[in-house]
Amino acid sequence: MFIDLLRKRRSIRKFTDRKLDEKTIALVRETLLRSPTSRGINPWEFVVVTDSELLQKLSRSKMSGTGFIANAPLAVVILGDETKSDVWVEDCSIAAINVQLLATDLGLGSCWGQIRNRPHNAGTSAEAYVQQLLAIPLHLRVGMIVAIGYPAETKEAVPEAYLDGSKIHLNHF
Ligand SMILES: Cc1cc2nc3c(=O)[nH]c(=O)nc-3n(C[C@H](O)[C@H](O)[C@H](O)COP(=O)(O)O)c2cc1C
Repeated sequence: MFIDLLRKRRSIRKFTDRKLDEKTIALVRETLLRSPTSRGINPWEFVVVTDSELLQKLSRSKMSGTGFIANAPLAVVILGDETKSDVWVEDCSIAAINVQLLATDLGLGSCWGQIRNRPHNAGTSAEAYVQQLLAIPLHLRVGMIVAIGYPAETKEAVPEAYLDGSKIHLNHF
């Protein structure tokens, strides 16, 4: 059941050395491309990175919070064309969570690395760093990077008792 996937999904930041095979990468591609977008505009583009040197460099996109990309066999850099859609952030985010849930379903681990609105260092944004590294045209904004690989850590599902039911309001706030 879909709810089991949601229960199982945790952010995994440690990966084994095992590469993803072509069949798995094909599923990653299909999942990204099946993600719904506002008005079906599909303002996203995806850079699938498997080159270990590039993965190392992507892991340095931020001073902290993207280090896990270094030991992943694959990362998806999710870009949105802000000239095509004003809700590219939402569209990119849906693709990101979809591919994380695919990873969970396949027994893989994944983690989201936030790029948009985050600094690389005092003078450069994480977006500018990634754009320059991957030769991304400037009209394409960098939303996030999702790293995927075979998990080298396990995490328990968040117990149901931890879910904050007070966040859900019935009829009125
Ligand atoms: C919008 C968003 C941005 C995130 N950015 C990062 C990030 O930059 N680095 C990181 O290690 N994890 C990042 N995460 C993962 C969260 O830290 C993680 O989902 C949260 O702590 C809950 O843990 P769980 O995913 O194991 O349930 C991000 C998650 C989301 C949804």
